[in-house]
Amino acid sequence: MTFDIKVFNNISEEGLKQFDDSLYTINQTQNPDALLLRSKKLHDMTFSEHTIAISRAGAGTNNIPVDRCTKDGIVVFNTPGANANAVKELVLANLLLSARPILKSAQWVQTITDDNVEEIVEAEKKSFVGTELEGKKLGVIGLGAIGAMVANDAYRLGMEVMGYDPYVSVDTAWNISRRVKRVTDLDELLSTSDYISLHVPLMEKTHHLISTEELKKMAPEAVLLNFSRGELVDNNAVLQALADEEIAGYITDFAEKSLLGHEKITVLPHLGASTEEAEINCARMSVRTLKNYLETGNIKRS
Ligand code: MLT
Repeated sequence: MTFDIKVFNNISEEGLKQFDDSLYTINQTQNPDALLLRSKKLHDMTFSEHTIAISRAGAGTNNIPVDRCTKDGIVVFNTPGANANAVKELVLANLLLSARPILKSAQWVQTITDDNVEEIVEAEKKSFVGTELEGKKLGVIGLGAIGAMVANDAYRLGMEVMGYDPYVSVDTAWNISRRVKRVTDLDELLSTSDYISLHVPLMEKTHHLISTEELKKMAPEAVLLNFSRGELVDNNAVLQALADEEIAGYITDFAEKSLLGHEKITVLPHLGASTEEAEINCARMSVRTLKNYLETGNIKRS
């Protein structure tokens, strides 16, 4: 007996190598036994009656109709934690980029045509003064694998870190530095943070978690970072808050037309998990878990 797997694009070959040819075929039939994907949206897809599992090489499952799958007996797997380090590093990089005009000043230096570079640089550097992260307050909303790593490392950079997560597990709580202050009142975090970083999954109740009311509670110097899901933030409310100087900036990993070209908004093309290491980790974990299920019926992640 063999299993046919429908593989969508952007799955690392390192993961696919784990499918043993004697037991698996890839993209060979119209009725696959399982689907393996990264960001492909499956909401409009009709699944073959053979399909018994869907494995996502990534943490979020909002691109999969999980309720429908559950009703149809299709098991859905994800890879929590497998790309957490990559996302954490991108968040920390953006905190640093936000505090210091690194990109702007480096671009400016390249435009100098005069031979007297040193003198020009010396005269102009006063316009590129930044701030330090040390002593600044970071509010982390969501203390799962990624949020906990961001909180710990920001603390190591000297930031005062607050974490809010009404659902955090005991295990995760133990992984967070004792110096990360756990708050139970979201308003406290919103109103006292210099930077606020979102690390919650997209669900019905987290859709537009940050909207007009929440933005109004933030400090005028506050910068909001969103490396989780675009829909957690009401973009129109952010544009209004920036126009009214209620917050200082928005950094998001989710491109949307209305956000482009705004001087106080940084938009990245969903790069959080885009490192060689994270792509390999996610692909390996999603394939291992899928194989384990198909071969043994065990739903334990491996
Ligand atoms: C995730 O949910 O972990 C990310 O969306 C992964 C990705 O970028 O594919």
